[in-house]
Amino acid sequence: MYGPVAPASDALDKATTSLAARYGTFVCEDLNVAGTTTNRRLTADGYDFVVVASRLPVDRVEDTADKTGWRHSPGGLVTALEPIMRKMDGAWIGWPGDAGPAPEPFEESGIHLVGIGLSAEEVRDFYEGMCNATLWPLYHDVIAPPAFRRPWWDAYVTVNQRFAQAAAEQAAKGATVWVHDYQLQLVPGMLRELRDDLRIGFFNHIPFPGYEIFAQLPWRRRIVEGLLGADLLGFQRQADATNFLRAARRAAGLPTKGSVVHAGARDVRAASFPIAIDAAALAEIARREDVKERAREIRQLLGQPERVLLGIDRLDYTKGIRHRLKAYGELRREGRLGPETVLIQVASPSRERVEQYRLLRDEVEVIVGRINGEFGELGNPPINYLHQSFPRDEMAALYLAGDVMLVTPLRDGMNLVAKEYVACRNDESGALVLSEFTGAADELNGAFLVNPHDIDGMKDAIIRAATVSPREARRRMRVMRRRVFDYDVAHWATSFLDTLREVPEPVPGRA
Ligand code: F6P
Repeated sequence: MYGPVAPASDALDKATTSLAARYGTFVCEDLNVAGTTTNRRLTADGYDFVVVASRLPVDRVEDTADKTGWRHSPGGLVTALEPIMRKMDGAWIGWPGDAGPAPEPFEESGIHLVGIGLSAEEVRDFYEGMCNATLWPLYHDVIAPPAFRRPWWDAYVTVNQRFAQAAAEQAAKGATVWVHDYQLQLVPGMLRELRDDLRIGFFNHIPFPGYEIFAQLPWRRRIVEGLLGADLLGFQRQADATNFLRAARRAAGLPTKGSVVHAGARDVRAASFPIAIDAAALAEIARREDVKERAREIRQLLGQPERVLLGIDRLDYTKGIRHRLKAYGELRREGRLGPETVLIQVASPSRERVEQYRLLRDEVEVIVGRINGEFGELGNPPINYLHQSFPRDEMAALYLAGDVMLVTPLRDGMNLVAKEYVACRNDESGALVLSEFTGAADELNGAFLVNPHDIDGMKDAIIRAATVSPREARRRMRVMRRRVFDYDVAHWATSFLDTLREVPEPVPGRA
Protein backbone atom coordinates (compact mmCIF):
# COMPACT_ATOMS: atom_id res chain seq x y z
CA MET A 1 0.00 0.00 0.00
CA TYR A 2 0.99 3.57 -0.54
CA GLY A 3 1.26 6.07 2.26
CA PRO A 4 -1.28 8.73 3.14
CA VAL A 5 -3.75 9.53 0.45
CA ALA A 6 -3.51 12.83 -1.39
CA PRO A 7 -6.74 14.74 -1.56
CA ALA A 8 -7.45 16.65 1.60
CA SER A 9 -11.09 16.74 2.58
CA ASP A 10 -11.51 20.31 1.31
CA ALA A 11 -10.45 19.12 -2.14
CA LEU A 12 -13.11 16.46 -1.86
CA ASP A 13 -15.66 19.00 -0.78
CA LYS A 14 -14.78 21.23 -3.73
CA ALA A 15 -15.16 18.33 -6.11
CA THR A 16 -18.43 17.41 -4.46
CA THR A 17 -19.83 20.90 -5.02
CA SER A 18 -18.78 20.93 -8.65
CA LEU A 19 -20.34 17.50 -9.23
CA ALA A 20 -23.55 18.66 -7.61
CA ALA A 21 -23.61 21.58 -10.01
CA ARG A 22 -22.98 19.33 -13.00
CA TYR A 23 -25.26 16.39 -12.22
CA GLY A 24 -27.91 18.03 -10.13
CA THR A 25 -27.94 15.18 -7.61
CA PHE A 26 -25.22 14.33 -5.21
CA VAL A 27 -25.00 12.01 -2.30
CA CYS A 28 -22.05 12.60 -0.06
CA GLU A 29 -23.69 11.70 3.17
CA ASP A 30 -26.19 8.92 3.37
CA LEU A 31 -24.17 6.53 1.20
CA ASN A 32 -25.80 3.58 2.85
CA VAL A 33 -29.46 2.96 2.23
CA ALA A 34 -32.23 1.94 4.56
CA GLY A 35 -31.70 4.59 7.12
CA THR A 36 -28.02 4.34 8.03
CA THR A 37 -26.45 7.73 7.54
CA THR A 38 -22.72 7.83 7.38
CA ASN A 39 -20.49 10.69 6.50
CA ARG A 40 -17.61 8.84 4.97
CA ARG A 41 -14.27 10.47 4.47
CA LEU A 42 -11.23 9.36 2.60
CA THR A 43 -9.24 6.87 4.59
CA ALA A 44 -5.63 7.60 5.44
CA ASP A 45 -4.34 5.07 2.96
CA GLY A 46 -5.93 2.92 0.35
CA TYR A 47 -5.58 0.28 -2.31
CA ASP A 48 -3.25 0.43 -5.29
CA PHE A 49 -5.69 -1.32 -7.59
CA VAL A 50 -9.43 -0.85 -7.37
CA VAL A 51 -12.00 -2.66 -9.50
CA VAL A 52 -15.39 -1.01 -9.74
CA ALA A 53 -18.03 -3.32 -11.20
CA SER A 54 -21.79 -3.40 -10.83
CA ARG A 55 -21.60 -6.69 -8.94
CA LEU A 56 -19.39 -8.06 -6.20
CA PRO A 57 -17.68 -11.34 -7.13
CA VAL A 58 -19.58 -13.14 -4.35
CA ASP A 59 -23.13 -14.32 -3.73
CA ARG A 60 -24.90 -13.79 -0.46
CA VAL A 61 -25.80 -17.04 1.28
CA GLU A 62 -28.05 -17.01 4.29
CA ASP A 63 -26.34 -19.33 6.77
CA THR A 64 -28.57 -18.92 9.77
CA ALA A 65 -31.30 -16.51 10.76
CA ASP A 66 -28.88 -13.87 11.96
CA LYS A 67 -25.74 -14.61 10.00
CA THR A 68 -24.99 -13.79 6.40
CA GLY A 69 -22.23 -15.63 4.59
CA TRP A 70 -20.67 -15.01 1.21
CA ARG A 71 -19.82 -17.56 -1.43
CA HIS A 72 -17.16 -16.83 -3.99
CA SER A 73 -18.78 -16.68 -7.44
CA PRO A 74 -16.08 -17.55 -9.92
CA GLY A 75 -17.17 -15.36 -12.86
CA GLY A 76 -14.85 -14.55 -15.74
CA LEU A 77 -13.95 -11.11 -14.48
CA VAL A 78 -12.88 -12.20 -11.02
CA THR A 79 -10.87 -15.11 -12.44
CA ALA A 80 -9.04 -12.64 -14.65
CA LEU A 81 -8.40 -10.10 -11.99
CA GLU A 82 -7.83 -12.22 -8.91
CA PRO A 83 -4.08 -12.76 -9.39
CA ILE A 84 -3.58 -9.09 -10.19
CA MET A 85 -5.67 -8.05 -7.21
CA ARG A 86 -3.58 -10.15 -4.87
CA LYS A 87 -0.29 -8.93 -6.35
CA MET A 88 -1.29 -5.28 -6.42
CA ASP A 89 -3.21 -5.13 -3.15
CA GLY A 90 -6.62 -4.74 -4.66
CA ALA A 91 -10.11 -3.81 -3.60
CA TRP A 92 -13.35 -4.64 -5.43
CA ILE A 93 -16.33 -2.35 -5.23
CA GLY A 94 -19.73 -3.72 -6.27
CA TRP A 95 -23.37 -4.33 -5.46
CA PRO A 96 -24.17 -7.58 -3.62
CA GLY A 97 -27.19 -8.16 -5.88
CA ASP A 98 -30.17 -7.52 -3.62
CA ALA A 99 -31.95 -4.53 -2.13
CA GLY A 100 -30.76 -3.35 1.24
CA PRO A 101 -27.99 -1.56 3.05
CA ALA A 102 -24.38 -2.11 2.10
CA PRO A 103 -22.61 -4.80 4.10
CA GLU A 104 -19.51 -3.69 5.99
CA PRO A 105 -16.36 -4.12 3.84
CA PHE A 106 -15.00 -7.65 4.18
CA GLU A 107 -12.29 -9.98 2.89
CA GLU A 108 -13.14 -12.98 0.74
CA SER A 109 -10.54 -15.24 -0.86
CA GLY A 110 -7.89 -12.62 -0.21
CA ILE A 111 -9.74 -9.75 -1.89
CA HIS A 112 -11.01 -6.69 -0.06
CA LEU A 113 -14.68 -6.31 -0.96
CA VAL A 114 -16.63 -3.10 -0.59
CA GLY A 115 -20.37 -3.49 -1.00
CA ILE A 116 -22.57 -0.74 -2.40
CA GLY A 117 -26.12 -0.74 -1.06
CA LEU A 118 -29.12 -0.10 -3.31
CA SER A 119 -32.59 0.58 -1.99
CA ALA A 120 -35.56 -1.30 -3.46
CA GLU A 121 -36.44 1.84 -5.48
CA GLU A 122 -32.91 2.04 -6.81
CA VAL A 123 -32.96 -1.61 -7.82
CA ARG A 124 -36.14 -0.82 -9.74
CA ASP A 125 -35.05 2.50 -11.29
CA PHE A 126 -31.28 2.03 -11.67
CA TYR A 127 -30.82 -1.73 -12.27
CA GLU A 128 -34.09 -2.87 -13.79
CA GLY A 129 -34.91 0.49 -15.36
CA MET A 130 -31.99 2.54 -16.66
CA CYS A 131 -29.51 -0.36 -16.95
CA ASN A 132 -31.69 -3.15 -18.24
CA ALA A 133 -34.69 -1.48 -19.87
CA THR A 134 -32.88 1.55 -21.37
CA LEU A 135 -29.16 1.00 -21.92
CA TRP A 136 -29.18 -2.77 -22.48
CA PRO A 137 -31.68 -2.75 -25.38
CA LEU A 138 -30.26 0.51 -26.78
CA TYR A 139 -26.72 -0.86 -26.85
CA HIS A 140 -27.92 -4.14 -28.40
CA ASP A 141 -29.25 -2.66 -31.63
CA VAL A 142 -32.69 -1.86 -30.12
CA ILE A 143 -33.72 -5.53 -30.47
CA ALA A 144 -36.27 -4.61 -27.81
CA PRO A 145 -37.52 -1.01 -27.63
CA PRO A 146 -35.59 0.98 -25.00
CA ALA A 147 -37.63 3.06 -22.56
CA PHE A 148 -36.38 6.52 -21.65
CA ARG A 149 -37.59 7.59 -18.19
CA ARG A 150 -36.23 10.61 -16.36
CA PRO A 151 -36.54 9.14 -12.83
CA TRP A 152 -34.47 6.17 -14.03
CA TRP A 153 -31.76 8.55 -15.23
CA ASP A 154 -31.80 10.34 -11.88
CA ALA A 155 -31.29 7.01 -10.12
CA TYR A 156 -28.45 6.17 -12.53
CA VAL A 157 -26.69 9.43 -11.63
CA THR A 158 -27.19 8.86 -7.90
CA VAL A 159 -25.97 5.27 -7.95
CA ASN A 160 -22.99 6.04 -10.19
CA GLN A 161 -22.09 8.80 -7.76
CA ARG A 162 -22.18 6.33 -4.90
CA PHE A 163 -19.80 4.00 -6.71
CA ALA A 164 -17.47 6.89 -7.61
CA GLN A 165 -17.42 8.08 -4.03
CA ALA A 166 -16.58 4.60 -2.74
CA ALA A 167 -13.77 4.30 -5.31
CA ALA A 168 -12.40 7.69 -4.26
CA GLU A 169 -12.34 6.47 -0.66
CA GLN A 170 -10.67 3.15 -1.38
CA ALA A 171 -7.96 4.18 -3.86
CA ALA A 172 -4.46 4.96 -2.65
CA LYS A 173 -2.58 7.93 -4.04
CA GLY A 174 -1.82 7.39 -7.73
CA ALA A 175 -3.77 4.10 -7.74
CA THR A 176 -5.16 2.41 -10.81
CA VAL A 177 -8.95 2.18 -10.87
CA TRP A 178 -10.63 -0.08 -13.40
CA VAL A 179 -14.33 0.62 -13.91
CA HIS A 180 -16.51 -1.94 -15.69
CA ASP A 181 -19.49 -1.86 -17.96
CA TYR A 182 -22.57 0.02 -19.03
CA GLN A 183 -24.05 0.27 -15.54
CA LEU A 184 -21.25 2.63 -14.46
CA GLN A 185 -20.51 4.90 -17.41
CA LEU A 186 -20.59 8.08 -15.34
CA VAL A 187 -18.14 6.78 -12.76
CA PRO A 188 -14.91 7.69 -14.63
CA GLY A 189 -15.91 11.37 -14.92
CA MET A 190 -17.24 11.59 -11.36
CA LEU A 191 -14.19 9.87 -9.98
CA ARG A 192 -11.80 12.13 -11.82
CA GLU A 193 -13.47 15.14 -10.26
CA LEU A 194 -13.02 13.61 -6.82
CA ARG A 195 -9.48 12.34 -7.36
CA ASP A 196 -7.34 13.76 -10.16
CA ASP A 197 -4.31 11.72 -9.06
CA LEU A 198 -5.75 8.40 -10.26
CA ARG A 199 -5.19 6.41 -13.39
CA ILE A 200 -8.65 5.40 -14.56
CA GLY A 201 -9.54 2.69 -17.05
CA PHE A 202 -13.00 1.69 -18.25
CA PHE A 203 -14.03 -1.47 -20.06
CA ASN A 204 -17.39 -1.86 -21.77
CA HIS A 205 -18.44 -5.53 -21.77
CA ILE A 206 -21.36 -5.04 -24.14
CA PRO A 207 -21.46 -3.50 -27.63
CA PHE A 208 -21.25 0.25 -28.08
CA PRO A 209 -23.97 1.13 -30.62
CA GLY A 210 -23.69 3.04 -33.87
CA TYR A 211 -24.32 6.76 -33.49
CA GLU A 212 -27.75 6.70 -35.18
CA ILE A 213 -28.93 4.45 -32.34
CA PHE A 214 -26.91 6.01 -29.52
CA ALA A 215 -28.25 9.43 -30.53
CA GLN A 216 -31.72 8.39 -29.28
CA LEU A 217 -30.48 8.55 -25.70
CA PRO A 218 -31.62 11.84 -24.14
CA TRP A 219 -28.50 11.83 -21.93
CA ARG A 220 -26.02 10.90 -24.66
CA ARG A 221 -23.69 13.80 -24.03
CA ARG A 222 -23.55 13.11 -20.28
CA ILE A 223 -22.68 9.48 -20.94
CA VAL A 224 -19.89 10.39 -23.36
CA GLU A 225 -18.50 12.95 -20.92
CA GLY A 226 -18.74 10.47 -18.07
CA LEU A 227 -16.75 7.90 -20.02
CA LEU A 228 -14.15 10.48 -21.01
CA GLY A 229 -13.14 10.79 -17.37
CA ALA A 230 -11.11 7.63 -18.03
CA ASP A 231 -7.59 7.60 -19.47
CA LEU A 232 -8.27 4.48 -21.47
CA LEU A 233 -11.59 3.14 -22.76
CA GLY A 234 -11.66 -0.53 -23.69
CA PHE A 235 -14.24 -2.09 -25.99
CA GLN A 236 -14.80 -5.64 -27.20
CA ARG A 237 -14.37 -4.97 -30.91
CA GLN A 238 -12.74 -2.28 -32.99
CA ALA A 239 -16.22 -1.47 -34.36
CA ASP A 240 -17.38 -0.59 -30.82
CA ALA A 241 -14.38 1.70 -30.27
CA THR A 242 -15.05 3.36 -33.62
CA ASN A 243 -18.70 3.89 -32.67
CA PHE A 244 -17.62 5.53 -29.43
CA LEU A 245 -15.13 7.83 -31.21
CA ARG A 246 -17.95 8.96 -33.48
CA ALA A 247 -20.20 9.56 -30.47
CA ALA A 248 -17.47 11.71 -28.89
CA ARG A 249 -17.35 13.84 -32.04
CA ARG A 250 -21.10 14.05 -32.59
CA ALA A 251 -22.56 14.09 -29.08
CA ALA A 252 -19.81 15.99 -27.27
CA GLY A 253 -18.35 17.95 -30.21
CA LEU A 254 -14.80 16.82 -29.40
CA PRO A 255 -12.04 16.31 -31.95
CA THR A 256 -10.57 12.84 -32.42
CA LYS A 257 -7.42 11.64 -34.11
CA GLY A 258 -7.02 7.92 -34.76
CA SER A 259 -8.02 6.21 -31.54
CA VAL A 260 -7.62 9.33 -29.39
CA VAL A 261 -10.25 11.84 -28.22
CA HIS A 262 -8.88 15.28 -27.38
CA ALA A 263 -10.97 16.05 -24.32
CA GLY A 264 -9.76 19.50 -23.26
CA ALA A 265 -6.41 19.19 -21.52
CA ARG A 266 -6.55 15.40 -21.63
CA ASP A 267 -6.25 12.82 -24.36
CA VAL A 268 -8.37 9.70 -23.95
CA ARG A 269 -7.69 6.55 -25.93
CA ALA A 270 -10.48 4.21 -27.12
CA ALA A 271 -9.35 0.79 -28.32
CA SER A 272 -10.46 -2.83 -28.51
CA PHE A 273 -9.48 -5.46 -25.95
CA PRO A 274 -11.60 -8.56 -26.66
CA ILE A 275 -12.42 -10.24 -23.39
CA ALA A 276 -11.43 -13.87 -22.93
CA ILE A 277 -11.67 -16.85 -20.56
CA ASP A 278 -9.35 -18.87 -18.35
CA ALA A 279 -9.07 -21.53 -21.04
CA ALA A 280 -6.46 -23.69 -19.30
CA ALA A 281 -8.52 -23.94 -16.09
CA LEU A 282 -11.65 -24.91 -17.98
CA ALA A 283 -9.80 -27.44 -20.13
CA GLU A 284 -8.49 -28.96 -16.92
CA ILE A 285 -12.02 -29.39 -15.57
CA ALA A 286 -13.09 -30.97 -18.86
CA ARG A 287 -10.17 -33.42 -18.60
CA ARG A 288 -11.36 -34.77 -15.24
CA GLU A 289 -12.67 -38.33 -15.29
CA ASP A 290 -15.78 -37.48 -13.24
CA VAL A 291 -16.70 -34.70 -15.67
CA LYS A 292 -16.23 -36.97 -18.69
CA GLU A 293 -18.30 -39.63 -16.98
CA ARG A 294 -21.05 -37.07 -16.35
CA ALA A 295 -20.98 -36.14 -20.06
CA ARG A 296 -21.49 -39.82 -20.97
CA GLU A 297 -24.31 -40.01 -18.45
CA ILE A 298 -26.00 -36.95 -19.98
CA ARG A 299 -26.02 -38.61 -23.39
CA GLN A 300 -27.38 -41.77 -21.83
CA LEU A 301 -30.17 -39.83 -20.17
CA LEU A 302 -31.06 -38.43 -23.59
CA GLY A 303 -31.41 -41.99 -24.94
CA GLN A 304 -27.98 -42.18 -26.63
CA PRO A 305 -28.87 -39.98 -29.60
CA GLU A 306 -26.56 -39.94 -32.58
CA ARG A 307 -26.07 -36.22 -32.24
CA VAL A 308 -26.54 -33.60 -29.54
CA LEU A 309 -27.06 -29.94 -30.40
CA LEU A 310 -26.44 -27.61 -27.47
CA GLY A 311 -27.53 -24.09 -26.59
CA ILE A 312 -26.46 -22.44 -23.32
CA ASP A 313 -27.54 -18.86 -22.72
CA ARG A 314 -28.82 -16.42 -20.19
CA LEU A 315 -32.52 -16.12 -21.00
CA ASP A 316 -32.10 -12.82 -22.82
CA TYR A 317 -33.70 -11.51 -26.01
CA THR A 318 -30.27 -10.66 -27.40
CA LYS A 319 -29.27 -14.33 -27.51
CA GLY A 320 -31.40 -15.35 -30.49
CA ILE A 321 -32.93 -18.33 -28.69
CA ARG A 322 -36.26 -18.02 -30.51
CA HIS A 323 -34.55 -17.87 -33.92
CA ARG A 324 -32.51 -20.95 -33.06
CA LEU A 325 -35.57 -22.88 -31.91
CA LYS A 326 -37.40 -21.90 -35.07
CA ALA A 327 -34.54 -23.21 -37.21
CA TYR A 328 -34.41 -26.48 -35.27
CA GLY A 329 -38.23 -26.91 -35.44
CA GLU A 330 -38.22 -26.38 -39.21
CA LEU A 331 -35.36 -28.83 -39.69
CA ARG A 332 -37.40 -31.44 -37.81
CA ARG A 333 -40.58 -30.62 -39.72
CA GLU A 334 -38.77 -30.90 -43.05
CA GLY A 335 -37.17 -34.19 -41.99
CA ARG A 336 -33.65 -32.80 -42.49
CA LEU A 337 -33.08 -33.68 -38.86
CA GLY A 338 -34.79 -36.64 -37.22
CA PRO A 339 -35.14 -38.06 -33.71
CA GLU A 340 -31.46 -39.04 -33.77
CA THR A 341 -30.59 -35.35 -33.24
CA VAL A 342 -31.72 -33.84 -29.95
CA LEU A 343 -31.30 -30.32 -28.66
CA ILE A 344 -30.36 -29.37 -25.12
CA GLN A 345 -31.32 -25.77 -24.44
CA VAL A 346 -30.18 -24.29 -21.15
CA ALA A 347 -31.72 -20.86 -20.56
CA SER A 348 -30.54 -19.58 -17.21
CA PRO A 349 -32.90 -17.22 -15.36
CA SER A 350 -32.00 -13.56 -15.70
CA ARG A 351 -33.51 -10.15 -14.84
CA GLU A 352 -36.82 -11.81 -14.17
CA ARG A 353 -38.60 -8.68 -13.00
CA VAL A 354 -37.99 -6.80 -16.24
CA GLU A 355 -41.05 -7.09 -18.49
CA GLN A 356 -39.21 -7.93 -21.73
CA TYR A 357 -37.56 -10.88 -19.99
CA ARG A 358 -40.87 -12.19 -18.67
CA LEU A 359 -42.38 -11.96 -22.16
CA LEU A 360 -39.39 -13.73 -23.66
CA ARG A 361 -39.66 -16.60 -21.21
CA ASP A 362 -43.29 -17.13 -22.18
CA GLU A 363 -42.45 -17.04 -25.88
CA VAL A 364 -39.53 -19.45 -25.61
CA GLU A 365 -41.51 -21.89 -23.50
CA VAL A 366 -44.44 -21.84 -25.93
CA ILE A 367 -42.10 -22.63 -28.84
CA VAL A 368 -40.35 -25.42 -26.93
CA GLY A 369 -43.73 -26.88 -25.93
CA ARG A 370 -44.96 -26.81 -29.54
CA ILE A 371 -41.88 -28.52 -30.95
CA ASN A 372 -41.85 -31.13 -28.20
CA GLY A 373 -45.58 -31.68 -28.62
CA GLU A 374 -45.27 -32.09 -32.35
CA PHE A 375 -42.14 -34.23 -32.65
CA GLY A 376 -41.67 -35.85 -29.25
CA GLU A 377 -42.11 -39.47 -28.35
CA LEU A 378 -42.87 -40.75 -24.88
CA GLY A 379 -39.76 -40.26 -22.77
CA ASN A 380 -37.92 -38.72 -25.70
CA PRO A 381 -38.53 -35.00 -26.26
CA PRO A 382 -36.63 -33.39 -29.16
CA ILE A 383 -35.72 -30.42 -26.94
CA ASN A 384 -34.48 -30.83 -23.38
CA TYR A 385 -35.17 -27.37 -22.02
CA LEU A 386 -33.71 -26.29 -18.67
CA HIS A 387 -34.59 -22.94 -17.14
CA GLN A 388 -31.82 -23.24 -14.58
CA SER A 389 -28.24 -22.22 -13.85
CA PHE A 390 -25.55 -24.82 -13.41
CA PRO A 391 -22.22 -24.94 -11.62
CA ARG A 392 -19.02 -24.95 -13.62
CA ASP A 393 -18.40 -28.72 -13.58
CA GLU A 394 -21.87 -29.46 -14.95
CA MET A 395 -21.38 -26.82 -17.64
CA ALA A 396 -18.13 -28.50 -18.67
CA ALA A 397 -19.93 -31.87 -18.84
CA LEU A 398 -22.63 -30.30 -21.03
CA TYR A 399 -19.99 -28.83 -23.33
CA LEU A 400 -18.47 -32.30 -23.65
CA ALA A 401 -21.85 -33.86 -24.34
CA GLY A 402 -22.69 -31.43 -27.17
CA ASP A 403 -21.57 -32.33 -30.70
CA VAL A 404 -22.68 -29.00 -32.13
CA MET A 405 -22.76 -25.81 -30.06
CA LEU A 406 -25.34 -23.26 -31.21
CA VAL A 407 -24.45 -19.66 -30.34
CA THR A 408 -26.83 -17.47 -32.32
CA PRO A 409 -27.22 -14.02 -30.67
CA LEU A 410 -28.78 -11.15 -32.57
CA ARG A 411 -26.13 -8.99 -30.90
CA ASP A 412 -23.54 -9.85 -28.26
CA GLY A 413 -20.50 -7.92 -27.03
CA MET A 414 -18.37 -11.08 -26.99
CA ASN A 415 -20.13 -14.34 -25.96
CA LEU A 416 -17.92 -16.34 -23.66
CA VAL A 417 -20.03 -19.51 -24.02
CA ALA A 418 -18.56 -19.93 -27.51
CA LYS A 419 -15.03 -19.69 -26.11
CA GLU A 420 -15.85 -22.02 -23.19
CA TYR A 421 -17.12 -24.71 -25.55
CA VAL A 422 -13.90 -24.53 -27.56
CA ALA A 423 -11.75 -24.67 -24.41
CA CYS A 424 -13.51 -27.83 -23.21
CA ARG A 425 -13.05 -29.78 -26.47
CA ASN A 426 -9.66 -31.24 -25.57
CA ASP A 427 -9.96 -33.98 -28.19
CA GLU A 428 -10.55 -31.35 -30.90
CA SER A 429 -13.95 -32.78 -31.82
CA GLY A 430 -17.18 -30.77 -31.98
CA ALA A 431 -18.44 -27.89 -34.10
CA LEU A 432 -19.49 -24.34 -33.35
CA VAL A 433 -22.31 -22.53 -35.13
CA LEU A 434 -21.73 -18.86 -34.34
CA SER A 435 -23.61 -15.66 -35.05
CA GLU A 436 -21.66 -13.08 -36.98
CA PHE A 437 -23.14 -10.46 -34.63
CA THR A 438 -21.02 -11.57 -31.67
CA GLY A 439 -17.61 -10.23 -30.74
CA ALA A 440 -16.42 -13.85 -30.73
CA ALA A 441 -17.04 -14.06 -34.49
CA ASP A 442 -14.08 -11.68 -35.03
CA GLU A 443 -11.81 -14.23 -33.37
CA LEU A 444 -13.13 -17.76 -33.85
CA ASN A 445 -12.29 -18.41 -37.47
CA GLY A 446 -13.11 -22.11 -37.36
CA ALA A 447 -16.80 -21.52 -36.57
CA PHE A 448 -19.72 -21.95 -38.96
CA LEU A 449 -20.83 -18.32 -39.12
CA VAL A 450 -24.50 -17.46 -39.43
CA ASN A 451 -26.80 -14.50 -39.68
CA PRO A 452 -29.48 -15.53 -37.14
CA HIS A 453 -32.13 -13.45 -38.92
CA ASP A 454 -31.65 -15.64 -41.98
CA ILE A 455 -33.42 -18.77 -40.75
CA ASP A 456 -32.75 -20.73 -43.97
CA GLY A 457 -29.07 -19.82 -43.84
CA MET A 458 -28.93 -20.85 -40.19
CA LYS A 459 -30.61 -24.17 -40.96
CA ASP A 460 -28.03 -24.90 -43.68
CA ALA A 461 -25.19 -24.01 -41.31
CA ILE A 462 -26.59 -26.32 -38.60
CA ILE A 463 -26.74 -29.18 -41.12
CA ARG A 464 -23.20 -28.46 -42.32
CA ALA A 465 -21.91 -28.39 -38.75
CA ALA A 466 -23.83 -31.55 -37.84
CA THR A 467 -22.48 -33.47 -40.82
CA VAL A 468 -18.95 -32.07 -41.04
CA SER A 469 -16.26 -34.75 -41.47
CA PRO A 470 -14.25 -35.49 -38.31
CA ARG A 471 -11.11 -34.33 -40.13
CA GLU A 472 -12.57 -30.96 -41.10
CA ALA A 473 -14.10 -30.57 -37.62
CA ARG A 474 -10.69 -31.13 -36.07
CA ARG A 475 -9.04 -28.63 -38.39
CA ARG A 476 -11.60 -25.97 -37.47
CA MET A 477 -11.48 -26.73 -33.76
CA ARG A 478 -7.68 -26.60 -33.71
CA VAL A 479 -7.70 -23.07 -35.16
CA MET A 480 -10.22 -21.92 -32.56
CA ARG A 481 -8.42 -23.58 -29.66
CA ARG A 482 -5.18 -21.89 -30.58
CA ARG A 483 -6.90 -18.53 -30.41
CA VAL A 484 -8.73 -19.22 -27.14
CA PHE A 485 -5.60 -20.52 -25.37
CA ASP A 486 -3.17 -17.89 -26.75
CA TYR A 487 -5.47 -14.99 -25.99
CA ASP A 488 -6.78 -15.96 -22.60
CA VAL A 489 -8.18 -13.85 -19.82
CA ALA A 490 -4.78 -13.15 -18.28
CA HIS A 491 -3.64 -11.78 -21.64
CA TRP A 492 -6.78 -9.64 -21.81
CA ALA A 493 -6.32 -8.10 -18.36
CA THR A 494 -2.59 -7.61 -18.77
CA SER A 495 -2.85 -5.97 -22.17
CA PHE A 496 -5.51 -3.55 -20.91
CA LEU A 497 -3.58 -2.65 -17.78
CA ASP A 498 -0.26 -2.37 -19.62
CA THR A 499 -1.84 0.04 -22.09
CA LEU A 500 -3.35 2.00 -19.22
CA ARG A 501 0.06 2.18 -17.59
CA GLU A 502 1.50 3.76 -20.76
CA VAL A 503 -0.74 6.78 -20.22
CA PRO A 504 1.46 9.61 -18.89
CA GLU A 505 1.29 10.07 -15.09
CA PRO A 506 -1.78 12.08 -14.11
CA VAL A 507 -0.95 15.72 -13.44
CA PRO A 508 -3.15 16.76 -10.51
CA GLY A 509 -5.24 19.77 -11.39
CA ARG A 510 -5.33 18.99 -15.13
CA ALA A 511 -8.80 17.48 -15.25
O1 F6P B 1 -21.83 -7.48 -19.44
C1 F6P B 1 -23.08 -8.01 -19.38
C2 F6P B 1 -23.45 -8.44 -17.97
O2 F6P B 1 -23.55 -7.34 -17.11
C3 F6P B 1 -22.51 -9.48 -17.40
O3 F6P B 1 -21.46 -8.93 -16.68
C4 F6P B 1 -23.42 -10.31 -16.55
O4 F6P B 1 -22.98 -11.62 -16.43
C5 F6P B 1 -24.72 -10.26 -17.31
O5 F6P B 1 -24.71 -9.06 -18.04
C6 F6P B 1 -25.93 -10.35 -16.41
O6 F6P B 1 -25.88 -9.25 -15.57
P1 F6P B 1 -26.87 -8.95 -14.36
O7 F6P B 1 -27.33 -10.28 -13.83
O8 F6P B 1 -26.04 -8.18 -13.41
O9 F6P B 1 -28.00 -8.16 -14.92
